[in-house]
Amino acid sequence: MALDGKIMAAALRRYQDGKESRQAELNRRTAEVYRRLPRLESIDRELRGTAARLVIAAFDESGGDSAVKALERENLSLQRERETLLARGGYPYDYLDEKPACRLCGDSGFLRDGAPCRCLMACYAREQNRRLSKLLDLGSQSFDTFSLDWYSDQPWGGSGRSPLENMEMVLEICANYAHKFGERSGNLLFTGAPGLGKTFLSACIAREVSDAGFSVVYDTAGHVIQQFESGKFGRDNPYEEDPETEIDRYLKCDLLIVDDLGTEMLTSFVQSVIYRLVNDRLINRRKTILSTNLSVDKLEERYGEAVASRIRGEYQILRFFGEDIRILKRDR
Ligand SMILES: Nc1ncnc2c1ncn2[C@@H]1O[C@H](COP(=O)(O)OP(=O)(O)OP(=O)(O)O)[C@@H](O)[C@H]1O
Ligand SMILES: [Mg+2]
Ligand SMILES: [Zn+2]
Repeated sequence: MALDGKIMAAALRRYQDGKESRQAELNRRTAEVYRRLPRLESIDRELRGTAARLVIAAFDESGGDSAVKALERENLSLQRERETLLARGGYPYDYLDEKPACRLCGDSGFLRDGAPCRCLMACYAREQNRRLSKLLDLGSQSFDTFSLDWYSDQPWGGSGRSPLENMEMVLEICANYAHKFGERSGNLLFTGAPGLGKTFLSACIAREVSDAGFSVVYDTAGHVIQQFESGKFGRDNPYEEDPETEIDRYLKCDLLIVDDLGTEMLTSFVQSVIYRLVNDRLINRRKTILSTNLSVDKLEERYGEAVASRIRGEYQILRFFGEDIRILKRDR
């Protein structure tokens, strides 16, 4: 799994913030309880004292067992008094205990073998989703909200299939792709007219694959090209991100989704960037989803035979057809 260093750094910062705010919350509770139950504060002080004396007594041979036993008894009775006090004050017995939020890693974020823990990976996914949300509507676009109602069940053109039948199939392939995303996944090409759910389905997949802990980058072809251009020519970069790191993310992420392919102005530089992206990611077995209004034949005219041949051979091609949902929604 190729995690993104920048996102991991941000995730670690938030992880640390989370730990600190839990600690602050515990301090706040403790102060509140001590104010209401002053006896509790002195018990806690005494308990810290007996704990220290216990350690010393255990090493001191002259005192013998009886000194240790006495201290243990004292310690136990203080703990009982403490529990009773808390219960009478209406607090749970462990109200002031320091409990790690994650029992797997004790809130260190890493397992013993050095791998990031589930809890840190959840933080990573949240951070990544925050970034994806700048361009995608992850809040409202998910497999749960994707509706088949917009696709007609009447035969469409010469395809022999209705938009509904077609979309049921596309949806199943996409849902499957997202659920089972991994080493052995392939690549997808979404092709079809505007307003048919291509970007919507990209968002559904992006979110699910990101939640599973993979690095996911979504961008429009236009923006991708711009990053390569500013990387190459050192042009003023209209985006805040550093082009070199952005290009690295495009090339190295587990899943790259390039939307609106074919809308960018065509130059030979653009052709070479698209070729490089498609080819580089195939060679390194990284998964890509391309989304376009153009047919594969038109893509061939635009980007050349080498790109088209890779798409035909290595991508599952999903056709989108039907009535433009943007217009249907407007007229409803
Ligand atoms: N299956 C669906 N259920 C509900 N709303 C949908 C569905 N598909 C698309 N929409 C809505 O229709 C509009 C267009 O969808 P989307 O942006 O996914 O189209 P697109 O295929 O990417 O079009 P374009 O080629 O122009 O980029 C959006 O507002 C989207 O929320
Ligand atoms: Mg779109
Ligand atoms: Zn953990």
